[in-house]
Amino acid sequence: MDYTTLGKTGLKVSVAGLGCGGPSRLGMRGDVGAEDHAVHLIRQALDLGVNFLDTAQNYGTEGVVGKAIAGVARDRVVISTKKTLPTPDDADPAAAIVQGLEKSLKLLGTDYIDIYHLHGVEPKDYEFAQNQLIEPMRRLQQQGKIRFVGVTEGFVVDTTHTMLADSLKKELWDVVMVGFSLLNPSARKHVFPLTQKSGVGVLDMFAVRRALSQPQRLKEMCAELVEKGAIEKTALDLDDPLGFLLKETDAATLPEAAYRFCRHERGVDVVLTGTGNADHLKENIAAILKAPLPQASLEKLARLFGGLDYLTGN
Ligand SMILES: NC(=O)c1ccc[n+]([C@@H]2O[C@H](COP(=O)([O-])OP(=O)(O)OC[C@H]3O[C@@H](n4cnc5c(N)ncnc54)[C@H](OP(=O)(O)O)[C@@H]3O)[C@@H](O)[C@H]2O)c1
Repeated sequence: MDYTTLGKTGLKVSVAGLGCGGPSRLGMRGDVGAEDHAVHLIRQALDLGVNFLDTAQNYGTEGVVGKAIAGVARDRVVISTKKTLPTPDDADPAAAIVQGLEKSLKLLGTDYIDIYHLHGVEPKDYEFAQNQLIEPMRRLQQQGKIRFVGVTEGFVVDTTHTMLADSLKKELWDVVMVGFSLLNPSARKHVFPLTQKSGVGVLDMFAVRRALSQPQRLKEMCAELVEKGAIEKTALDLDDPLGFLLKETDAATLPEAAYRFCRHERGVDVVLTGTGNADHLKENIAAILKAPLPQASLEKLARLFGGLDYLTGN
């Protein structure tokens, strides 16, 4: 495993982080045995050198993270979890933050969280978050219950990162989680210059999602882009739109190419990988540790998708 420093937090983190949410949620879909499988996946990640675990109140995976790390020295893992936003008509949003944290601590079996995020702050939530939620988060930090304050963007509705672009100028966070992938590299322009300037730690989500793991979804998405004139028809093979990446590089699969693309972006500290499959986990960590993709392939990707800022990869 390679390790890096998560910006000004000073936390030493593995460059591959285990995402315990996303479509796979560690394979937990209510089946019998799913919890044991999830605990096994987390332990497998730890054995492979991953020390960064990302979960959230609303993933339903804080409990399995707690089980998997019971018996592991607390300073060997960096725990990132998230508070679902209270609503502006909540009688006491600050109290909701404190109650949420207490529940998370209990499920995780710990007395502090390394990074506590406001979860999925969309542009419509931003003013409320600034005015009413950040202060209780900072109070928890002063009390030592959380070490650092983070935010995750609502990438599906904010693909151009407007919330992050504004809030990073105000230095509201210690760590941010941003959507960045070869299909939507717009954080390069709107987010990374700001995080680098202020030393904010960066966690990358949406590296793969559906379009880069399901060939049929990728074909549909590219056909739509050609149809609306966003990509020239002659610029790619609609039967195998990113096939050139496997022909022109040593990447064996598209998820591998997608994780390598993110890992070597200047400005990304931790690439999150979410899976319910033990083989995928092993392959994805290996991918994140491989060399950058060749420059010519990166340039081709930039010509295809570099100017688009609305794809999520879902
Ligand atoms: N706003 C937010 O706060 C927010 C939003 C989204 C995500 N996140 C965080 O970011 C993490 C990463 O996002 P994500 O879980 O969507 O991860 P991702 O790595 O972008 O994509 C995961 C998807 O790709 C598939 N996949 C992964 N590796 C594969 C492989 N080698 N071959 C084929 N398919 C593969 C997975 O299915 P399999 O299970 O079959 O492998 C899953 O469907 C989440 O787990 C969560 O912690 C946060």
